[in-house]
Amino acid sequence: MLKTKDILDEKSSILRKVSNDVTFPMEEEDLKKIDLMVEYLTNSQIDALAEKYDLRPGMGMAAIQLGVPKRYLTIVHEIEEGNFDTYVVINPKIVSTSQEKIYVEDGEGCLSVNREVEGIVPRYARVTVEGYDTLGNKIKIRAREELAIAFQHEIDHLNGILFFDHIDKKNPFKDKDKYRAI
Ligand code: CO
Repeated sequence: MLKTKDILDEKSSILRKVSNDVTFPMEEEDLKKIDLMVEYLTNSQIDALAEKYDLRPGMGMAAIQLGVPKRYLTIVHEIEEGNFDTYVVINPKIVSTSQEKIYVEDGEGCLSVNREVEGIVPRYARVTVEGYDTLGNKIKIRAREELAIAFQHEIDHLNGILFFDHIDKKNPFKDKDKYRAI
C-alpha cells in the first residue's frame, strides 16, 4: 500500500523531468504501480480510510510523482458520495479543447505540494484526451469541469510542469474575469 510519504514533494527535481512514452506490453512493475495509485486515490477520498492510513486526499496522480518517468496517469473521480469513476491513461494526449477556460476558486491542489497556493490556474473547461489502456488499446475520453482540470493537471506532470507554474507571480489573480470559477 502506498503511503503519503512515497509521493515526491515539490522540492524534488525529479518532478521536473519530462516523462517518456510507454511501450506495450507494459512492464509488470508499472501495472503494479497503477494498482497502488488507484488504491491510494480511492482510499484517500474515503474519510474513514484517509484517517486510518493517514492519506492526503487527492483525485489524480502521475507516475513521475512516484519517481517513475513514464507517461501514465490515474484519476479517481468521485461522482457522488462514495461512488468513483476511475481513469487510467497511458501516453495521454489532449487532442481538442474548449475555448472556454475555468479555474478552481479555492485554488488547485496537488499531492506533491503540501501547502496552500493562492492564485488562478486557467484550464480548459472541456478537453478530449486520447491515449491507451494498460493493454495498449486506444481510448478516448471527453472530460469537463473538475475532471477536465484533473486531466490537464496530470498531463502537465508528465511534462515536468506543476500547477503553480501557471500562476502569475506578480499578480496571482490576474485576468480573473476572463475565466469562470468552479
Ligand atoms: Co499534482
